[in-house]
This record gives sequence, structure tokens and C-alpha cells, in this order.
Amino acid sequence: MSAYDAIARLYDAWSASVVEDISFYVEEALAAVAGGGVSQADTARPGSRTTGAPGGVVVELGVGTGRIAIPTALAGAHVIGVDSSAAMLEVCARHARAAGIGDRLDLRLGDLRRPPVDERVLLVTCPFRAYLHLRDDEERLEALRAARELLRPGGRLIFDVFAPSREDVEETHGRWLEREPGIFERADWDLDEQTLTLSVRGPQGESRMTLWWLEPERWHALLVEAGFAVEGCYGWFDRRPYDGGEDTVWVARRG
Ligand SMILES: C[S@@+](CC[C@H](N)C(=O)[O-])C[C@H]1O[C@@H](n2cnc3c(N)ncnc32)[C@H](O)[C@@H]1O
Repeated sequence: MSAYDAIARLYDAWSASVVEDISFYVEEALAAVAGGGVSQADTARPGSRTTGAPGGVVVELGVGTGRIAIPTALAGAHVIGVDSSAAMLEVCARHARAAGIGDRLDLRLGDLRRPPVDERVLLVTCPFRAYLHLRDDEERLEALRAARELLRPGGRLIFDVFAPSREDVEETHGRWLEREPGIFERADWDLDEQTLTLSVRGPQGESRMTLWWLEPERWHALLVEAGFAVEGCYGWFDRRPYDGGEDTVWVARRG
């Protein structure tokens, strides 16, 4: 049971204002599939919806309700989306059917540390901080190595994470704030443990989840330990170089 199951019907409204990353990830997917995407050929699992896909395939880990995957598929790429929440995947499948791109989205229930993906691709993404659900370096390395395994040589892993600023912590700690109309969010920060306990409640559900954050230097070191060459670390989705803010967007290449 995932903490996201209880808020799957709330998630889209909760994240409605998060739009700044969509065009970035869509552009990266289109660039990857233009470069060959996957060759599913030899490696695709029987019955895979992406088998024979003409446009090339990317993998999104923690695909959720398809906030990124649906526009990516609408733009022409085929997406294999992995998530550990069956309820989030159900919502995603519904959106895909409504958008008429059900055949470009191959949704798979599973853990991003052991993704049920046999295909080898040129792009694996893990958008909107999903790696912050990993609790320690052992889990992070397992996930990063698993992502690397999905990549063809030269392929890239792109993801974003954050580490909070002191101001953010002071402004939000322990307070219920209305994040979107009728949807309330509460952040409980533990600066020693580097955890954020995030509670959310709204008309269609409520849940509580823990996120574990890390300094950018530690993400860099983990990527190197997992066998990646770090190509870039942006400070935002407009690709400005990282300059000490809360957000980091990582681009790492399988050597
Ligand atoms: C913040 S949401 C991001 C969803 C989507 N990528 C987006 O950008 O809106 C994090 C997602 O990661 C999924 N998730 C968390 N831990 C996971 C794990 N260990 N394996 C697979 N999915 C996981 C959750 O179920 C949730 O759908």
C-alpha cells in the first residue's frame, strides 16, 4: 500500500500549479526519441504496448497520474511509466484514454528500485522529487543503479530534487496551509534527520508521507558511485546553472 493510493483522486488538484517542469521533460523526451529512443526490438517484453513503437520510448519512474507522461505522449513519444501506487496508475490510465494516447503509455506497477522494465532506452526520468521517497543511501544507490541498468550506453537519467532553505522551513513548519483551493498541506521538517513529513488533506482524500532530502554534493557523489557521469546540475527547469537554491535538476549520463 502506497501513501499515494489515498490521494490519487486529489493529486492532480494538489499539484495543479506545478507546471514549470513539463516543457523541460517533454523536450528532453523528444530529443531522446529523435536520437533513437529504444530499440525495443530485442528486449521488449511480450505484450508490451511499446513494442514496435515508431516514435521511440522513454521510461518515467514514479509516473504518478501522468502529469508529465501525458504531455510527453501527446508530443509523440512512447512512455513506459512505473509507479508503486496502483491508484495513481489507474488515474493515469484514465487520463491517457481520455487524451486518446492510451497506446503510447505503458503503465507498470512496481518499485523504482527494481523497475519491471526489460527495455533499454536513451532516457530515464524521475520527475517532481520522487527520489526523495528513498530513505537512505542504500535505497538511493539501488534506485540509481537500477535506472542506469535501463539505459543504453550514452543514455541519460534526468531527475529533480530539492533541499529546503531555512526560510522555507521557518515559513511553513507545522502549519496547515491552503495550497490549492480546498486542499491543505502541512510540512513538518526535521533538520537533524533531514526529513519532511508532508500531510495533505482535501475533499477527495488525505495522506501523510515522508521525504528525505540531501545536499546537492551528496546527490552528485551518489550519481558518481552509481556509475554515472554528471553532465549537468541545473538550478531550475529553464536550465540555469545551479547557484545555491532549493531545487536541483540533474542530468547524468551512463558512460
Ligand atoms: C511527487 S509524485 C510525482 C508523480 C509524477 N512524476 C509527477 O511529476 O507528477 C511521486 C510519485 O512517485 C511514486 N513513488 C514513490 N516511491 C516510489 C517507489 N519506491 N517506486 C515507484 N514509485 C514510487 C508515488 O506513488 C508517486 O506517484
